[in-house]
Amino acid sequence: MRSTYLIGIDLGTSGTKTILFDAEGNIIASESKEYPMYQPKNGWAEQDADDWAQAGFATIKAVIGKSGVSPSHIAGIGISGQMHGLVMLDEEGRPLRKSIIWCDQRTAKECEEITDRVGQKRLIEITANPALTGFTASKILWVRNNEPEIYNKCRHILLPKDYLRYRMTGEFATEVSDASGMQLLDVPKRRWSREVLEALDIEPSMLGKVYESPEVTGYVTQECARATGLKAGTPVVGGAGDNAAAALGVGVYKDGMAFTTIGTSGVVYAHKEPDAEGRLDPRAIDPLGRVHTFCCAVPGAWHVMGVTQAAGLSRSWFRHNIAGGEPYEQLDAEAAKIPVGANRLLYLPYLMGERTPHLDPDCRGAFIGLSAIHTKYDMLRAVMEGVVFSLKDCLDILTDMGMNTTKMYTCGGGSKSTLWRQMLADVFRLPVVTVKCTEGPALGVAALAAVGAGIYKDVPEACQTMVRDDMLLEPDPAMWAEYEKYYKIFRDLYPALKDSFARLAGL
Ligand code: XUL
Repeated sequence: MRSTYLIGIDLGTSGTKTILFDAEGNIIASESKEYPMYQPKNGWAEQDADDWAQAGFATIKAVIGKSGVSPSHIAGIGISGQMHGLVMLDEEGRPLRKSIIWCDQRTAKECEEITDRVGQKRLIEITANPALTGFTASKILWVRNNEPEIYNKCRHILLPKDYLRYRMTGEFATEVSDASGMQLLDVPKRRWSREVLEALDIEPSMLGKVYESPEVTGYVTQECARATGLKAGTPVVGGAGDNAAAALGVGVYKDGMAFTTIGTSGVVYAHKEPDAEGRLDPRAIDPLGRVHTFCCAVPGAWHVMGVTQAAGLSRSWFRHNIAGGEPYEQLDAEAAKIPVGANRLLYLPYLMGERTPHLDPDCRGAFIGLSAIHTKYDMLRAVMEGVVFSLKDCLDILTDMGMNTTKMYTCGGGSKSTLWRQMLADVFRLPVVTVKCTEGPALGVAALAAVGAGIYKDVPEACQTMVRDDMLLEPDPAMWAEYEKYYKIFRDLYPALKDSFARLAGL
Protein backbone atom coordinates (compact mmCIF):
# COMPACT_ATOMS: atom_id res chain seq x y z
CA MET A 1 0.00 0.00 0.00
CA ARG A 2 2.95 2.32 0.68
CA SER A 3 3.59 2.85 -3.00
CA THR A 4 0.00 3.83 -3.76
CA TYR A 5 -0.82 7.53 -3.95
CA LEU A 6 -3.86 9.68 -4.55
CA ILE A 7 -4.32 13.24 -5.73
CA GLY A 8 -6.87 15.59 -4.19
CA ILE A 9 -7.51 18.90 -5.97
CA ASP A 10 -9.29 21.71 -4.14
CA LEU A 11 -10.50 24.28 -6.66
CA GLY A 12 -11.32 27.17 -4.35
CA THR A 13 -12.27 30.82 -4.77
CA SER A 14 -8.90 32.33 -3.92
CA GLY A 15 -6.87 29.61 -5.60
CA THR A 16 -6.44 25.93 -6.37
CA LYS A 17 -4.50 23.62 -4.10
CA THR A 18 -3.40 20.20 -5.27
CA ILE A 19 -2.12 17.61 -2.81
CA LEU A 20 -0.51 14.24 -3.32
CA PHE A 21 -1.41 11.90 -0.46
CA ASP A 22 -0.36 8.38 0.38
CA ALA A 23 -3.13 5.86 1.00
CA GLU A 24 -3.06 6.57 4.76
CA GLY A 25 -3.86 10.23 4.16
CA ASN A 26 -0.36 11.65 4.77
CA ILE A 27 0.61 14.66 2.65
CA ILE A 28 3.51 13.85 0.33
CA ALA A 29 3.55 17.08 -1.70
CA SER A 30 1.36 20.10 -2.07
CA GLU A 31 1.18 23.12 -4.37
CA SER A 32 -1.24 26.01 -4.76
CA LYS A 33 -1.83 28.74 -7.30
CA GLU A 34 -3.98 31.82 -6.84
CA TYR A 35 -6.19 33.61 -9.36
CA PRO A 36 -8.30 36.76 -9.32
CA MET A 37 -12.01 37.22 -8.67
CA TYR A 38 -13.53 39.97 -10.84
CA GLN A 39 -16.24 42.22 -9.39
CA PRO A 40 -17.41 44.35 -12.32
CA LYS A 41 -20.35 45.67 -10.23
CA ASN A 42 -21.35 45.77 -6.55
CA GLY A 43 -22.60 42.27 -5.73
CA TRP A 44 -21.24 40.64 -8.91
CA ALA A 45 -18.47 38.02 -8.83
CA GLU A 46 -16.82 36.26 -11.76
CA GLN A 47 -13.76 34.14 -12.45
CA ASP A 48 -12.05 32.87 -15.56
CA ALA A 49 -12.62 29.11 -16.00
CA ASP A 50 -9.31 28.81 -17.83
CA ASP A 51 -7.53 30.20 -14.75
CA TRP A 52 -8.95 27.21 -12.87
CA ALA A 53 -7.81 24.75 -15.52
CA GLN A 54 -4.33 26.27 -15.73
CA ALA A 55 -4.01 26.29 -11.94
CA GLY A 56 -5.17 22.65 -11.83
CA PHE A 57 -2.68 21.52 -14.47
CA ALA A 58 0.25 23.56 -13.08
CA THR A 59 -0.27 22.35 -9.50
CA ILE A 60 -0.59 18.69 -10.55
CA LYS A 61 2.65 19.01 -12.49
CA ALA A 62 4.34 20.65 -9.50
CA VAL A 63 3.32 17.99 -6.96
CA ILE A 64 4.44 15.15 -9.21
CA GLY A 65 7.76 16.94 -9.80
CA LYS A 66 8.36 17.79 -6.12
CA SER A 67 7.45 14.35 -4.80
CA GLY A 68 9.43 12.25 -7.25
CA VAL A 69 6.53 9.75 -7.11
CA SER A 70 6.10 7.65 -10.23
CA PRO A 71 2.85 8.68 -11.97
CA SER A 72 2.03 4.99 -12.40
CA HIS A 73 1.72 4.76 -8.60
CA ILE A 74 -1.04 7.40 -8.54
CA ALA A 75 -4.16 5.27 -8.23
CA GLY A 76 -6.78 7.97 -8.62
CA ILE A 77 -7.68 11.64 -8.59
CA GLY A 78 -10.55 13.47 -6.90
CA ILE A 79 -11.62 17.06 -7.45
CA SER A 80 -13.39 19.29 -4.95
CA GLY A 81 -14.71 22.64 -6.06
CA GLN A 82 -16.30 25.90 -5.06
CA MET A 83 -19.98 25.19 -5.74
CA HIS A 84 -22.71 26.77 -7.89
CA GLY A 85 -20.50 28.62 -10.45
CA LEU A 86 -21.78 28.65 -14.02
CA VAL A 87 -19.42 27.56 -16.80
CA MET A 88 -20.96 27.78 -20.28
CA LEU A 89 -19.14 26.10 -23.16
CA ASP A 90 -19.67 26.31 -26.93
CA GLU A 91 -19.80 23.27 -29.18
CA GLU A 92 -16.00 23.12 -29.27
CA GLY A 93 -15.94 22.97 -25.46
CA ARG A 94 -14.59 26.52 -25.08
CA PRO A 95 -15.85 28.87 -22.31
CA LEU A 96 -18.25 31.46 -23.74
CA ARG A 97 -17.85 34.04 -20.98
CA LYS A 98 -16.33 34.40 -17.52
CA SER A 99 -17.93 32.11 -14.96
CA ILE A 100 -20.53 33.75 -12.70
CA ILE A 101 -19.56 32.28 -9.34
CA TRP A 102 -21.31 31.25 -6.11
CA CYS A 103 -21.20 34.59 -4.28
CA ASP A 104 -22.58 36.64 -7.20
CA GLN A 105 -25.88 38.27 -6.26
CA ARG A 106 -27.20 39.68 -9.55
CA THR A 107 -30.04 37.22 -10.12
CA ALA A 108 -32.88 38.30 -7.79
CA LYS A 109 -35.24 38.75 -10.80
CA GLU A 110 -34.37 35.33 -12.20
CA CYS A 111 -35.10 33.76 -8.80
CA GLU A 112 -38.61 35.18 -9.01
CA GLU A 113 -38.87 33.78 -12.53
CA ILE A 114 -37.82 30.30 -11.30
CA THR A 115 -40.33 30.42 -8.44
CA ASP A 116 -43.11 31.48 -10.86
CA ARG A 117 -42.25 28.81 -13.43
CA VAL A 118 -41.84 25.85 -11.03
CA GLY A 119 -44.00 26.95 -8.09
CA GLN A 120 -42.48 27.62 -4.67
CA LYS A 121 -43.73 24.43 -2.99
CA ARG A 122 -42.76 22.13 -5.87
CA LEU A 123 -39.33 23.77 -6.16
CA ILE A 124 -38.58 23.03 -2.50
CA GLU A 125 -39.98 19.48 -2.82
CA ILE A 126 -37.73 18.69 -5.80
CA THR A 127 -34.57 20.74 -5.29
CA ALA A 128 -34.88 20.88 -1.46
CA ASN A 129 -34.19 24.63 -1.58
CA PRO A 130 -36.00 27.84 -2.57
CA ALA A 131 -34.72 29.79 -5.60
CA LEU A 132 -31.44 31.36 -4.53
CA THR A 133 -29.28 33.96 -6.22
CA GLY A 134 -26.17 31.94 -5.45
CA PHE A 135 -27.35 28.78 -7.20
CA THR A 136 -26.58 27.95 -10.81
CA ALA A 137 -30.11 27.85 -12.28
CA SER A 138 -30.71 31.57 -11.73
CA LYS A 139 -27.33 32.34 -13.30
CA ILE A 140 -28.28 30.34 -16.41
CA LEU A 141 -31.51 32.32 -16.71
CA TRP A 142 -29.63 35.58 -16.19
CA VAL A 143 -27.39 34.83 -19.17
CA ARG A 144 -30.41 33.83 -21.26
CA ASN A 145 -32.24 37.06 -20.29
CA ASN A 146 -29.31 39.43 -20.61
CA GLU A 147 -26.85 37.89 -23.07
CA PRO A 148 -29.03 35.84 -25.45
CA GLU A 149 -26.27 35.74 -28.08
CA ILE A 150 -24.09 33.85 -25.59
CA TYR A 151 -26.88 31.60 -24.38
CA ASN A 152 -27.71 30.60 -27.97
CA LYS A 153 -24.16 29.37 -28.50
CA CYS A 154 -24.11 27.39 -25.23
CA ARG A 155 -23.95 23.58 -25.64
CA HIS A 156 -22.57 22.50 -22.25
CA ILE A 157 -23.17 23.73 -18.72
CA LEU A 158 -20.63 22.71 -16.07
CA LEU A 159 -19.70 23.54 -12.49
CA PRO A 160 -16.19 24.86 -11.76
CA LYS A 161 -14.56 21.55 -10.77
CA ASP A 162 -16.41 19.76 -13.58
CA TYR A 163 -14.76 22.08 -16.11
CA LEU A 164 -11.38 20.97 -14.78
CA ARG A 165 -12.59 17.34 -15.02
CA TYR A 166 -13.58 17.98 -18.65
CA ARG A 167 -10.11 19.39 -19.40
CA MET A 168 -8.49 16.35 -17.72
CA THR A 169 -10.69 13.56 -19.09
CA GLY A 170 -12.73 14.97 -21.98
CA GLU A 171 -15.93 13.92 -20.13
CA PHE A 172 -18.92 16.13 -19.39
CA ALA A 173 -19.82 14.85 -15.95
CA THR A 174 -20.69 15.90 -12.43
CA GLU A 175 -21.66 14.21 -9.17
CA VAL A 176 -24.60 14.49 -6.82
CA SER A 177 -23.19 16.75 -4.09
CA ASP A 178 -22.16 19.62 -6.36
CA ALA A 179 -25.09 19.08 -8.75
CA SER A 180 -27.42 19.62 -5.74
CA GLY A 181 -26.36 23.27 -5.74
CA MET A 182 -27.46 23.86 -9.34
CA GLN A 183 -31.18 23.80 -8.42
CA LEU A 184 -31.76 21.45 -11.37
CA LEU A 185 -31.29 18.19 -9.47
CA ASP A 186 -34.06 16.20 -7.87
CA VAL A 187 -32.21 16.10 -4.53
CA PRO A 188 -34.29 13.35 -2.85
CA LYS A 189 -33.97 11.14 -6.01
CA ARG A 190 -30.35 12.09 -6.85
CA ARG A 191 -30.91 12.68 -10.60
CA TRP A 192 -31.63 15.64 -12.90
CA SER A 193 -35.21 16.82 -12.54
CA ARG A 194 -37.02 16.61 -15.87
CA GLU A 195 -39.84 18.67 -14.33
CA VAL A 196 -37.60 21.57 -13.33
CA LEU A 197 -35.65 21.48 -16.60
CA GLU A 198 -38.89 21.58 -18.60
CA ALA A 199 -40.36 24.38 -16.50
CA LEU A 200 -37.19 26.44 -16.94
CA ASP A 201 -36.87 25.47 -20.60
CA ILE A 202 -33.29 24.25 -20.18
CA GLU A 203 -32.12 21.57 -22.61
CA PRO A 204 -31.14 18.45 -20.55
CA SER A 205 -28.42 17.54 -23.08
CA MET A 206 -26.47 20.61 -21.92
CA LEU A 207 -25.88 18.98 -18.50
CA GLY A 208 -23.23 16.40 -17.69
CA LYS A 209 -23.87 12.83 -16.57
CA VAL A 210 -24.50 12.62 -12.80
CA TYR A 211 -22.47 10.14 -10.71
CA GLU A 212 -22.18 9.32 -7.02
CA SER A 213 -19.06 10.95 -5.58
CA PRO A 214 -16.69 7.94 -5.37
CA GLU A 215 -17.56 6.62 -8.84
CA VAL A 216 -15.02 6.83 -11.67
CA THR A 217 -16.21 9.47 -14.16
CA GLY A 218 -13.38 9.24 -16.70
CA TYR A 219 -9.66 8.78 -17.25
CA VAL A 220 -6.79 11.23 -17.78
CA THR A 221 -6.34 11.87 -21.52
CA GLN A 222 -3.03 11.79 -23.40
CA GLU A 223 -3.21 15.57 -23.76
CA CYS A 224 -3.65 16.13 -20.01
CA ALA A 225 -0.93 13.55 -19.33
CA ARG A 226 1.51 15.47 -21.55
CA ALA A 227 0.70 18.76 -19.82
CA THR A 228 0.81 17.50 -16.22
CA GLY A 229 3.09 14.46 -16.08
CA LEU A 230 0.18 12.24 -14.99
CA LYS A 231 -0.14 8.80 -16.53
CA ALA A 232 -2.82 8.68 -19.25
CA GLY A 233 -5.65 6.46 -18.06
CA THR A 234 -5.45 7.48 -14.38
CA PRO A 235 -9.05 7.41 -13.07
CA VAL A 236 -10.79 10.62 -12.00
CA VAL A 237 -13.66 10.05 -9.56
CA GLY A 238 -16.74 12.24 -9.13
CA GLY A 239 -15.27 14.15 -6.20
CA ALA A 240 -17.55 16.60 -4.39
CA GLY A 241 -18.61 20.18 -3.83
CA ASP A 242 -16.19 21.82 -1.40
CA ASN A 243 -18.35 21.36 1.68
CA ALA A 244 -19.27 17.73 1.04
CA ALA A 245 -15.57 17.12 0.34
CA ALA A 246 -14.47 18.93 3.49
CA ALA A 247 -16.93 16.80 5.50
CA LEU A 248 -15.04 13.65 4.54
CA GLY A 249 -11.71 15.39 5.06
CA VAL A 250 -12.62 15.97 8.71
CA GLY A 251 -14.23 12.53 9.04
CA VAL A 252 -17.90 13.62 9.10
CA TYR A 253 -19.72 10.73 7.41
CA LYS A 254 -22.55 9.61 9.75
CA ASP A 255 -25.48 10.99 11.74
CA GLY A 256 -24.62 13.05 14.80
CA MET A 257 -21.47 14.45 13.17
CA ALA A 258 -21.03 18.09 12.11
CA PHE A 259 -18.35 20.57 11.14
CA THR A 260 -17.82 24.28 10.58
CA THR A 261 -15.68 25.80 7.84
CA ILE A 262 -14.21 29.23 7.92
CA GLY A 263 -13.14 29.50 4.29
CA THR A 264 -14.06 32.38 1.96
CA SER A 265 -17.62 31.55 2.98
CA GLY A 266 -18.52 30.04 6.35
CA VAL A 267 -20.52 26.86 6.69
CA VAL A 268 -22.09 24.83 9.46
CA TYR A 269 -22.74 21.32 8.08
CA ALA A 270 -24.51 18.29 9.54
CA HIS A 271 -24.64 14.81 8.01
CA LYS A 272 -28.07 13.24 7.35
CA GLU A 273 -28.48 9.49 6.85
CA PRO A 274 -31.40 8.17 4.76
CA ASP A 275 -34.41 6.69 6.57
CA ALA A 276 -35.04 2.91 6.75
CA GLU A 277 -36.37 2.94 3.15
CA GLY A 278 -33.32 4.82 1.88
CA ARG A 279 -35.25 8.09 1.53
CA LEU A 280 -34.54 11.66 2.58
CA ASP A 281 -36.58 12.54 5.67
CA PRO A 282 -38.69 15.58 4.61
CA ARG A 283 -37.99 17.12 8.03
CA ALA A 284 -34.41 17.60 6.84
CA ILE A 285 -35.65 20.32 4.50
CA ASP A 286 -36.16 23.75 6.07
CA PRO A 287 -39.54 24.97 4.75
CA LEU A 288 -38.20 28.54 5.01
CA GLY A 289 -35.18 27.64 2.90
CA ARG A 290 -32.68 29.23 5.28
CA VAL A 291 -30.33 26.24 5.15
CA HIS A 292 -29.48 23.99 2.20
CA THR A 293 -30.26 20.31 1.96
CA PHE A 294 -27.95 18.59 -0.52
CA CYS A 295 -26.83 15.08 -1.46
CA CYS A 296 -23.58 14.34 0.29
CA ALA A 297 -20.52 12.49 -0.91
CA VAL A 298 -21.42 9.30 0.97
CA PRO A 299 -23.57 7.43 -1.58
CA GLY A 300 -27.24 7.49 -0.60
CA ALA A 301 -26.89 10.10 2.18
CA TRP A 302 -27.55 13.84 2.43
CA HIS A 303 -26.41 16.81 4.45
CA VAL A 304 -27.92 20.04 5.72
CA MET A 305 -25.85 23.21 5.92
CA GLY A 306 -26.15 26.88 6.72
CA VAL A 307 -23.92 29.27 4.77
CA THR A 308 -22.70 32.74 5.68
CA GLN A 309 -21.37 34.37 2.53
CA ALA A 310 -18.34 36.29 3.80
CA ALA A 311 -16.47 34.53 6.63
CA GLY A 312 -12.78 34.33 5.72
CA LEU A 313 -13.64 36.91 3.07
CA SER A 314 -14.48 39.43 5.82
CA ARG A 315 -11.10 38.93 7.46
CA SER A 316 -9.14 39.03 4.20
CA TRP A 317 -11.09 42.11 3.07
CA PHE A 318 -10.22 43.77 6.40
CA ARG A 319 -6.59 42.73 6.22
CA HIS A 320 -6.07 44.04 2.69
CA ASN A 321 -8.14 47.20 2.87
CA ILE A 322 -7.73 48.36 6.45
CA ALA A 323 -4.94 46.47 8.18
CA GLY A 324 -2.32 47.19 5.52
CA GLY A 325 -1.74 43.52 4.72
CA GLU A 326 -0.29 42.64 8.16
CA PRO A 327 0.27 38.87 8.52
CA TYR A 328 -2.63 36.93 10.01
CA GLU A 329 -0.54 35.67 12.97
CA GLN A 330 0.24 39.25 13.98
CA LEU A 331 -3.38 40.32 13.52
CA ASP A 332 -4.53 37.36 15.63
CA ALA A 333 -2.10 38.18 18.42
CA GLU A 334 -3.41 41.78 18.53
CA ALA A 335 -7.09 40.75 18.33
CA ALA A 336 -6.53 38.30 21.22
CA LYS A 337 -5.60 41.25 23.48
CA ILE A 338 -9.00 42.94 22.86
CA PRO A 339 -11.83 41.94 25.25
CA VAL A 340 -14.98 40.09 24.13
CA GLY A 341 -17.30 42.56 22.41
CA ALA A 342 -14.38 44.55 20.93
CA ASN A 343 -14.98 47.46 23.30
CA ARG A 344 -18.63 47.61 22.30
CA LEU A 345 -18.24 47.22 18.55
CA LEU A 346 -20.28 44.86 16.39
CA TYR A 347 -19.79 43.78 12.78
CA LEU A 348 -22.30 42.34 10.31
CA PRO A 349 -20.46 40.10 7.82
CA TYR A 350 -22.81 40.63 4.88
CA LEU A 351 -20.22 41.87 2.37
CA MET A 352 -21.74 39.70 -0.36
CA GLY A 353 -25.39 39.70 0.77
CA GLU A 354 -26.42 36.82 3.00
CA ARG A 355 -27.87 33.35 2.80
CA THR A 356 -28.40 31.81 6.26
CA PRO A 357 -30.53 32.98 7.95
CA HIS A 358 -31.65 36.08 6.02
CA LEU A 359 -31.73 35.02 2.34
CA ASP A 360 -31.10 38.61 1.28
CA PRO A 361 -28.88 39.50 -1.68
CA ASP A 362 -29.16 43.23 -0.89
CA CYS A 363 -27.86 43.37 2.68
CA ARG A 364 -24.26 44.47 3.18
CA GLY A 365 -21.60 44.60 5.86
CA ALA A 366 -21.66 47.10 8.72
CA PHE A 367 -19.75 48.15 11.81
CA ILE A 368 -22.14 49.19 14.56
CA GLY A 369 -21.00 51.20 17.56
CA LEU A 370 -17.83 52.64 16.02
CA SER A 371 -16.22 55.20 18.31
CA ALA A 372 -13.12 57.36 18.23
CA ILE A 373 -11.53 55.03 20.79
CA HIS A 374 -11.55 52.07 18.42
CA THR A 375 -8.37 50.89 16.76
CA LYS A 376 -8.06 48.68 13.72
CA TYR A 377 -7.53 45.75 16.11
CA ASP A 378 -10.87 46.39 17.83
CA MET A 379 -12.39 46.38 14.36
CA LEU A 380 -10.61 43.14 13.51
CA ARG A 381 -11.87 41.49 16.70
CA ALA A 382 -15.39 42.68 15.84
CA VAL A 383 -15.01 41.17 12.33
CA MET A 384 -13.99 37.79 13.77
CA GLU A 385 -16.79 37.85 16.34
CA GLY A 386 -19.37 38.92 13.73
CA VAL A 387 -18.45 35.93 11.55
CA VAL A 388 -18.80 33.59 14.55
CA PHE A 389 -22.19 35.11 15.44
CA SER A 390 -23.35 34.55 11.90
CA LEU A 391 -22.17 30.92 12.11
CA LYS A 392 -24.13 30.62 15.36
CA ASP A 393 -27.23 31.73 13.43
CA CYS A 394 -26.57 28.74 11.13
CA LEU A 395 -26.02 26.31 14.01
CA ASP A 396 -29.22 27.38 15.77
CA ILE A 397 -31.33 26.54 12.71
CA LEU A 398 -29.72 23.09 12.37
CA THR A 399 -30.33 22.49 16.08
CA ASP A 400 -33.98 23.54 15.71
CA MET A 401 -34.27 21.01 12.86
CA GLY A 402 -33.15 18.26 15.22
CA MET A 403 -29.53 17.94 14.12
CA ASN A 404 -27.47 17.71 17.25
CA THR A 405 -23.82 17.06 17.80
CA THR A 406 -21.58 16.73 20.82
CA LYS A 407 -18.51 18.20 19.15
CA MET A 408 -17.83 20.44 16.18
CA TYR A 409 -15.08 19.64 13.69
CA THR A 410 -13.50 22.61 11.90
CA CYS A 411 -11.56 23.26 8.76
CA GLY A 412 -10.80 26.03 6.26
CA GLY A 413 -8.08 28.67 6.24
CA GLY A 414 -9.74 30.72 9.01
CA SER A 415 -9.87 27.80 11.39
CA LYS A 416 -6.06 27.72 11.45
CA SER A 417 -6.48 30.66 13.86
CA THR A 418 -6.66 29.33 17.44
CA LEU A 419 -8.37 32.55 18.48
CA TRP A 420 -11.15 32.07 15.93
CA ARG A 421 -11.58 28.40 16.90
CA GLN A 422 -11.79 29.31 20.58
CA MET A 423 -14.46 31.89 19.74
CA LEU A 424 -16.38 29.13 17.92
CA ALA A 425 -16.09 26.80 20.92
CA ASP A 426 -17.24 29.50 23.36
CA VAL A 427 -20.13 30.73 21.22
CA PHE A 428 -21.29 27.27 20.04
CA ARG A 429 -20.75 25.94 23.58
CA LEU A 430 -19.24 22.81 22.04
CA PRO A 431 -15.76 21.31 21.98
CA VAL A 432 -14.13 22.27 18.68
CA VAL A 433 -11.90 19.66 17.05
CA THR A 434 -9.33 19.96 14.30
CA VAL A 435 -7.93 17.00 12.39
CA LYS A 436 -4.24 16.34 11.64
CA CYS A 437 -4.53 17.21 7.96
CA THR A 438 -5.85 20.76 7.68
CA GLU A 439 -6.63 20.39 3.96
CA GLY A 440 -10.19 19.09 4.40
CA PRO A 441 -11.56 19.27 0.83
CA ALA A 442 -8.40 17.87 -0.80
CA LEU A 443 -8.18 15.00 1.68
CA GLY A 444 -11.92 14.33 1.32
CA VAL A 445 -11.71 13.89 -2.44
CA ALA A 446 -8.49 11.88 -2.13
CA ALA A 447 -10.51 9.53 0.14
CA LEU A 448 -13.17 9.33 -2.60
CA ALA A 449 -10.45 8.56 -5.16
CA ALA A 450 -9.17 5.79 -2.88
CA VAL A 451 -12.65 4.26 -2.83
CA GLY A 452 -13.01 4.64 -6.62
CA ALA A 453 -9.63 2.97 -7.09
CA GLY A 454 -10.71 0.03 -4.91
CA ILE A 455 -8.22 0.71 -2.09
CA TYR A 456 -11.01 0.99 0.49
CA LYS A 457 -14.39 -0.71 0.32
CA ASP A 458 -16.45 2.40 1.08
CA VAL A 459 -16.30 6.02 2.19
CA PRO A 460 -16.49 5.34 5.97
CA GLU A 461 -13.56 2.91 5.72
CA ALA A 462 -11.53 5.46 3.74
CA CYS A 463 -12.29 8.21 6.30
CA GLN A 464 -11.50 5.97 9.28
CA THR A 465 -8.10 5.17 7.78
CA MET A 466 -7.13 8.51 6.28
CA VAL A 467 -8.46 11.08 8.80
CA ARG A 468 -7.10 11.50 12.34
CA ASP A 469 -8.28 13.88 15.09
CA ASP A 470 -5.75 16.40 16.32
CA MET A 471 -6.52 19.20 18.78
CA LEU A 472 -9.63 19.78 20.87
CA LEU A 473 -10.56 23.17 22.33
CA GLU A 474 -13.07 23.11 25.19
CA PRO A 475 -15.70 25.85 25.46
CA ASP A 476 -15.38 28.29 28.34
CA PRO A 477 -18.87 28.94 29.82
CA ALA A 478 -17.74 32.23 31.36
CA MET A 479 -16.87 33.54 27.90
CA TRP A 480 -20.29 32.63 26.51
CA ALA A 481 -21.86 34.69 29.29
CA GLU A 482 -19.97 37.67 27.82
CA TYR A 483 -20.52 36.83 24.14
CA GLU A 484 -24.24 36.28 24.69
CA LYS A 485 -24.79 39.95 25.59
CA TYR A 486 -23.35 40.97 22.22
CA TYR A 487 -24.97 38.15 20.28
CA LYS A 488 -28.42 39.28 21.45
CA ILE A 489 -27.77 42.76 20.03
CA PHE A 490 -26.24 41.26 16.86
CA ARG A 491 -29.51 39.35 16.28
CA ASP A 492 -31.50 42.58 16.37
CA LEU A 493 -29.34 44.47 13.88
CA TYR A 494 -30.33 42.86 10.60
CA PRO A 495 -34.10 43.36 11.13
CA ALA A 496 -33.40 46.98 12.11
CA LEU A 497 -31.28 47.64 9.01
CA LYS A 498 -33.09 45.52 6.43
CA ASP A 499 -35.04 48.39 4.87
CA SER A 500 -32.00 50.66 4.75
CA PHE A 501 -30.05 47.93 2.92
CA ALA A 502 -32.86 47.58 0.39
CA ARG A 503 -33.02 51.33 -0.17
CA LEU A 504 -29.27 51.54 -0.56
CA ALA A 505 -29.31 48.72 -3.08
CA GLY A 506 -32.04 50.54 -4.99
CA LEU A 507 -29.97 53.70 -5.52
C1 XUL B 1 -21.93 26.60 -0.59
C2 XUL B 1 -21.19 27.76 -1.12
C3 XUL B 1 -19.79 27.97 -0.76
C4 XUL B 1 -18.98 27.79 -2.01
C5 XUL B 1 -17.63 28.42 -1.93
O1 XUL B 1 -23.27 26.59 -0.90
O2 XUL B 1 -21.69 28.53 -1.87
O3 XUL B 1 -19.36 27.16 0.28
O4 XUL B 1 -18.96 26.45 -2.35
O5 XUL B 1 -16.75 27.85 -1.13
